[in-house]
Amino acid sequence: MKTKIFETTKNDIEEASRLIQNGEVVAFPTETVYGLGADATNESAIKKVFVAKGRPADNPLIMTVADAAQLDEFVTISDQARGLMDHFWPGSLTIILPIKPGKVSMLVTGGLQTVAFRLPANDAARTLIRAAGVPIVGPSANTSGKPSPTTAQHVWHDMQNKIAGIVDDGPTQVGVESTVVDMSISTPIILRPGAVTQPQLEEVLQMKVIDATSTESVASNVTPKAPGMKYRHYAPDKNVVMFDGLDALELKQVLAPNDVVMAKDDMIEKMALTNHQAWSLGNTLETATEQLFAGLRFYDDDSQITTIYVQKMPPIGIGKAFNNRLGKAAGNQEFQN
Ligand code: TXA
Ligand code: MG
Repeated sequence: MKTKIFETTKNDIEEASRLIQNGEVVAFPTETVYGLGADATNESAIKKVFVAKGRPADNPLIMTVADAAQLDEFVTISDQARGLMDHFWPGSLTIILPIKPGKVSMLVTGGLQTVAFRLPANDAARTLIRAAGVPIVGPSANTSGKPSPTTAQHVWHDMQNKIAGIVDDGPTQVGVESTVVDMSISTPIILRPGAVTQPQLEEVLQMKVIDATSTESVASNVTPKAPGMKYRHYAPDKNVVMFDGLDALELKQVLAPNDVVMAKDDMIEKMALTNHQAWSLGNTLETATEQLFAGLRFYDDDSQITTIYVQKMPPIGIGKAFNNRLGKAAGNQEFQN
């Protein structure tokens, strides 16, 4: 199959939406990462998504909508969940809700009684879904085990000739996948940290929210895990190691010729690294998060490189999501001086 590249013009998006209506898979932009779109009510289309990603069948897909009203047919929505949608949608929050019996394909839910929904903050995505006229499944558009794609070129790298099309809307803004919160149980649980943070959720809900990925929760092993969490997320050929900014100068001393560093600009300057040795994470937590997967993908494809050292961020705001994804890529290996 030849993968067609679409722009975000009205004509192109309409053509892409017809492919989706015909049961084909089309990658689409969101503000977090690119997703793999297919008609969520068409089982043969859903199967194609699992094949293209190489994803295990028991890892459920999220459903992406253009409008919160599209949910009513599929799920029961509590007042609290409604409050989150009103406040954070369109945006980087995926909400897990109890399904109405028989209303969602087992292929989407992986056999669970719940399903995850998101309304992305990207105009092309919403136009595409509206034109298709159905919710679309929207897992990240990477091959299972690779970092999520933040550009159409990343999608092309993983999906060329495996899917019908890619809608190219340039680089994504956030750079890591949405926050996943389980609202199907009495105490909300964050299963994946993202741009929407635990304090923000607590403020809107006016109740305690558990972060299943925080060190305390993981250590005490009390909270359930997202089905996806049991899979190794990113298995680079390269050795990925996290480092603390305080250890930068010690790291510099042991850096081998085939090692590279991903760090914020002030750190690159402090370590006096050349362009060949460093990938800039910019100046802020937000730019660092936006650049994380792009840098990992770039170096992972470079056969010259042995180890990628990546600077850890302070665990505030989206820094938690950054460190969470970095920890997975690094298999939690830390630089010890
Ligand atoms: O930002 C995002 O959410 C991106 C963009 C493309 O929208 N999508 C994305 O989808 O990251 P995916 O499928 O790669 O990640 C969704 C995560 C997976 O870890 C999956 O296991 C979990 O959500 N998940 C989906 N449905 C679930 C459910 N019913 N219960 C628990 N976890 C669920
Ligand atoms: Mg994914």
